[in-house]
Amino acid sequence: MTQYVLAIDQGTTSTRAIIFDHSGAIVSVGQKEHRQIFPRAGWVEHDPLEISARTRDVVGEALARANLNLGDVVAAGITNQRETAVVWDRTTGEPVYNAIVWQDTRTQPIVAELGALGGGAERYKDRVGLPLATYFSGPKVKWILDNVEGARAKAENGQLMFGNTDTWTLWNLTGGVDGGVHVTDVTNASRTMLMDLDTLAWDADIAGEMGIPMSMLPQIRSSSEQYGTGGPGGVLKGVPISGILGDQQAATFGQVCYEIGTAKNTYGTGNFLLLNTGEERVASQNGLLTTVCYQLGDAAPIYALEGSIAVTGALVQWLRDNLGLIGAAPEIEQLAASVEDNGGAYFVPAFSGLFAPYWRADARGALVGLTSYVNRGHLARAVLEATAFQTREVVDAMNADSGVALTELKVDGGMVGNELLMQFQADILNVPVIRPKVAETTALGAAYAAGLAEGYWSGLDDLRANWAEDKRWNPELDPAERERSYRNWKKAVTRTFDWVD
Ligand code: G3P
Repeated sequence: MTQYVLAIDQGTTSTRAIIFDHSGAIVSVGQKEHRQIFPRAGWVEHDPLEISARTRDVVGEALARANLNLGDVVAAGITNQRETAVVWDRTTGEPVYNAIVWQDTRTQPIVAELGALGGGAERYKDRVGLPLATYFSGPKVKWILDNVEGARAKAENGQLMFGNTDTWTLWNLTGGVDGGVHVTDVTNASRTMLMDLDTLAWDADIAGEMGIPMSMLPQIRSSSEQYGTGGPGGVLKGVPISGILGDQQAATFGQVCYEIGTAKNTYGTGNFLLLNTGEERVASQNGLLTTVCYQLGDAAPIYALEGSIAVTGALVQWLRDNLGLIGAAPEIEQLAASVEDNGGAYFVPAFSGLFAPYWRADARGALVGLTSYVNRGHLARAVLEATAFQTREVVDAMNADSGVALTELKVDGGMVGNELLMQFQADILNVPVIRPKVAETTALGAAYAAGLAEGYWSGLDDLRANWAEDKRWNPELDPAERERSYRNWKKAVTRTFDWVD
């Protein structure tokens, strides 16, 4: 009997369930979006109950589309939008507040207060690999405990649980209030600002400074081992849940970046470039994060350097939803192709401040270089180019940190179907850009982690054999033009600074 692995990808804008076969090919997909809640400028929330309902729906959908039942599924893996924080009551299963999403900037005052205790943005960096920034989960949990009535008292009584959406999803799938497993993996834990990167354990001092009781924190486990099985009344009843990876680490794993020096760039809501640095954790001098890449069972953890960009695909959605300039996201390619170049316009989407390599919470978006000549086509082009320029900045930082220049870039994610963007990316980086046959590498990575734990795949060589190139874009742009436009971009970035105190 043919068997399969199912992956749940709980992303920023939607939740998907994808079923894979042994060759890593997609057998079926279920996908549902959830609401983006924007209560104030800079705030972004999700409804955790909506997310768990969507998760149940998409698992059912994927199984039904492939005409499979749970007996055909050997294992399930979970991958997720990282850093997004959920706090819920362990006895009722009710969230005490909406999930605070990774893009949310409300914790800026908390972050500033913690930095003022000494060390500024670098206060915890040696231990956790991250600068103090609104991006990470710890300060979001503190905000909930400080601002939701009664939450702190309940947390101190051991009544509340915290998790990123991997933990929330796992807890619900394994039974919720009836014995749900309260676990996260090392990759997700490495994004909370609460985990020591060497010991892979929660750092009680940091949790103490943020006023977060240790009893709220999930148990930290490897990325590939059996955490539990689907609960009796649930959509994955009896199926081993055996892999968890934060979505960017999952994409790195799915892109088979297993050797030191291999890297991938994922084009999603934001862009995230990860470089495998092996068993050594490399501290960045250039605005990158040090993070856990993956840990397979009892094996040593593998670390990565990461360049995180908050807004790339989200800018295309903004153009669609807030300006109505396009009807559907893929239409941007045609609109951008209606003009020769950006007409002098540069769009810096600092909607959540700027992440790597700047880490400036005070930045806000800017559209500069406008003249009467600029039309919708130029704007569309400036929007796509923003993704490529931001990626170039992260690649430059990566090259400086590692001392070795990247010679090619493996890409994946929603925007890599956009040929104009991929060509411009190769042009602006001056290295080939390579897309694999399965561009859904995030879900694939989670499936791999789960399937490895259950012996469905025998080892990394099995996974390497599954990777195949689909298309490659070679740089074509004149070098002088490349550097001229990049200089303009850099100038545009400086226009976004100092907008928020
Ligand atoms: O760190 C945030 C990242 O994990 C979100 O990824 O693909 O949901 O935009 P995505």
